[in-house]
Amino acid sequence: MIFQTKTKTPITPITETERSAFCREETDLETKPLVEETKSKARWQKIPIEYMRLTPDELDTRISKSKNKLKEKIIILGHHYQRDQIIKYTDYQGDSFKLAQYAASIPELEYIIFCGVHFMAETADILSKKHQKVILPNLTAGCSMADMAITEDVLDCWEDLNELVGNNIVTPITYMNSTAAIKSICGENGGLVCTSSNATEAMKWAFSNREKILFIPDQHLGRNTGKKLGIKLDEMVIWNPFKELGGNTLDSIKNSKLILWQGHCSVHTRFNIDQIENAKKKFPEINIIVHPECTMDVVDNSDFVGSTEYIIKTISEGAPGSIWGVGTEINLVNRIAKQNTDKTIFCLDSMVCPCSTMYRIHPAYLCWVLESIESGKIINQIEVDKKIINNSKIALNRMLALE
Ligand code: 13P
Ligand code: SF4
Repeated sequence: MIFQTKTKTPITPITETERSAFCREETDLETKPLVEETKSKARWQKIPIEYMRLTPDELDTRISKSKNKLKEKIIILGHHYQRDQIIKYTDYQGDSFKLAQYAASIPELEYIIFCGVHFMAETADILSKKHQKVILPNLTAGCSMADMAITEDVLDCWEDLNELVGNNIVTPITYMNSTAAIKSICGENGGLVCTSSNATEAMKWAFSNREKILFIPDQHLGRNTGKKLGIKLDEMVIWNPFKELGGNTLDSIKNSKLILWQGHCSVHTRFNIDQIENAKKKFPEINIIVHPECTMDVVDNSDFVGSTEYIIKTISEGAPGSIWGVGTEINLVNRIAKQNTDKTIFCLDSMVCPCSTMYRIHPAYLCWVLESIESGKIINQIEVDKKIINNSKIALNRMLALE
């Protein structure tokens, strides 16, 4: 047999090397003029200097004015990890699933301004109507996990698996946090997309059709979900795209049920057992709630696990006076704490580490894209390639149809 996946030097995505660009010890995440924020060691999209110098107050006046002028044409969507100074301008907020569903339901609006990351804007473009335009205010707002699954590597893996175990044996599932090209590979090959709020249903669907799953790109969400469904750890293998056969033996692949792509989220893999134990020592009655992108030991030692929307809902519905140690992105944890002053809520990680790519949506970018629309210029439009739009839509629609 000839295999496509060859041993090669591992490549670390640039978004991963920039992951700690905004981590700090002090809790201050207040927005500063962009010219000051760009001193961090991260790439930012270049924009006219006029916008970079505007103070948060000046930006506030201009964004509000522009938004008001464009109100018949635009909608501003925001993922829960956006900073407060962006969330305040959004018309609708949600987790990846809710935002995808919503983007598919507003055909009357010409422009969808997506305050989130690249794969979310791509999804909105796939699910929205042809006449609608999706805009990502800062094009360098990517996702390090999505960047860990390169199209060619996934295609090589897919060919190798089919060669090894035969066709129609494996269902490819991609987490929403992946490029449209990966979603298209899944759609074309009988697979689907999932988010952190429906990964269990997606796996159940896949196992009702075929005997194995290739889960891309988050090994942790894949492992945590598989374990929940009763799959044993020795029935799971990790696919390392930089090693022949993903670093596995022929037998281990043949005997596996779940093949986990070797990807992870740099924000959620910061959480660990020591943090949970310390929080429990300090507050024995604490509730630990984490996102399923955390590692298996963290998830196994938590009381509640779910998407960002689930985390917000669960804490908000908690008893007054309850205490919550949260394992997810800091902008969201701080916002939940501000909105639930009757509870004690804190991030399990004492360092303040925002998702470095979500954080790049600074109000200066929002102001720039809005004022450009006003002057008839469309900036930062996200347009998914026509060749992959149909199959990626199939994979997304299979997800949207899950019970
Ligand atoms: P949610 O779908 O839970 O909002 O997660 C998106 C994400 O990127 C988490 O890192
Ligand atoms: Fe990607 Fe992690 Fe940021 Fe989510 S939190 S957008 S998975 S890097």
